[in-house]
Amino acid sequence: MKVRITDTTLRDGQQSLLATRMRTEDMLPLCAELNRAGFFSLEVWGGATFDSCLRFLNEDPWERLRSLRKALPDTKLQMLLRGQNILGYKHYADDVVREFVRLAIKNGIDIIRVFDALNDTRNMETAIKAIKEFGGHAQGTVVYTISPLHSADKFVETARTLVGMGVDSLCLKDMAGLISPTVAYDLVKRFKKEFNMHVALHSHYTSGMASMAYLKAVEAGVDSIDTALSPLALGSSQPCTETMVAALQGTEYDTGLDIALLSSISERLKKFKDAYPEAKIATFSVDTNVLTYQIPGGMISNFISQLGDQIDKLPQVLEEVPRVRADLGFPPLVTPTSQIVGSQSVLNVVGGGRYKMVSNEVKNYLAGQYGRPPGKIDEAFRKILIGDMPVIDHRPADSLAPELPAAKKEIAAFMENEEDVLSYALFPQVALKFLKERQARKYGVDFDLAESAKKEGYPV
Ligand code: CO
Repeated sequence: MKVRITDTTLRDGQQSLLATRMRTEDMLPLCAELNRAGFFSLEVWGGATFDSCLRFLNEDPWERLRSLRKALPDTKLQMLLRGQNILGYKHYADDVVREFVRLAIKNGIDIIRVFDALNDTRNMETAIKAIKEFGGHAQGTVVYTISPLHSADKFVETARTLVGMGVDSLCLKDMAGLISPTVAYDLVKRFKKEFNMHVALHSHYTSGMASMAYLKAVEAGVDSIDTALSPLALGSSQPCTETMVAALQGTEYDTGLDIALLSSISERLKKFKDAYPEAKIATFSVDTNVLTYQIPGGMISNFISQLGDQIDKLPQVLEEVPRVRADLGFPPLVTPTSQIVGSQSVLNVVGGGRYKMVSNEVKNYLAGQYGRPPGKIDEAFRKILIGDMPVIDHRPADSLAPELPAAKKEIAAFMENEEDVLSYALFPQVALKFLKERQARKYGVDFDLAESAKKEGYPV
């Protein structure tokens, strides 16, 4: 059976190796050829790209989506959505999730890959329902991790719940690059046997195992694999598109893609990529910390910036991560749990003792505000950390009142189109700054934004 390719260059590739700094103007010149290549889909939006557009690039993420849609008329466009966290780091109310999904599809997204960091399917349900309602393809995601509590049966059970919610396909998401070739084979085999639907495998090259895992998954019947073009492949990114196409060429799994065409796109991409300062600090080599501590590549770079001049403490922090993760009931390490576990591990090492300082995120997590952890939390431990804070067991968004009406009111003066409200609802401070700057530019006003925002009492 022919294997299909989802190329992630413009989302996960540049997120993993260029710190999500790739600009739309460097993407568009590649689109004519990308559109002709014959991919199953192109992952071009979501994940950290939305935040990065507003925060670092002074770009409207919605405008990027519309431009890419126009430049890629014949290829399915895909995005990554963090379930009830949408593209942010906390839970949003259902009205925000629904409206976001509606506008993502309206502006050109075909396939939405939905995941939840805890594999708590309740946090994916609103998004999946909305995708179906607004005519999109809902790809339900099972986040892969290794812990005493995670087993093939458990992953299959999560997938079964997603299938029951009406997803159109399944994705096994190995965000840290931990999946071994044998496990990839076994899990894909189980998924294909239990569910009569498209199964995608997403992995990262971080540990050096991903392309072997892909080959075994292909032999087990995987329908599509995620890869990135060579200039933005390997290291903490995906396996390389051209390599996988070549490896499968002439076999029963032949992708049918033209390596000469792919190389020509890579040739141009390489020139753009080399101009980014981020390209110089990206690691393209194998990171053995992943194998030892099961810590995704992205976390290590966060530790380096959080530790600053205490960088000599990095080995202690790396050893602390699995302990904090165990204390918190073995959450998979992916946004936002990777940040929650990571920051607390740093605090435990540099803060004068374990849990002497506890982040608000850890407190909220222990209070059930991110959903149900995979394992049980020790009650005495929880009590010491959060005191009398109420613990919820229901779906976190059930305690959230609609958020759009207030957002609309607050942003009214700067709103040009309906998408602006969503940018603001997700990232109030960065979006407001962006929208104010956009308005100022439009009227040719050159003012000091930070100053004016301060005067008007807006958060900068
Ligand atoms: Co990824």
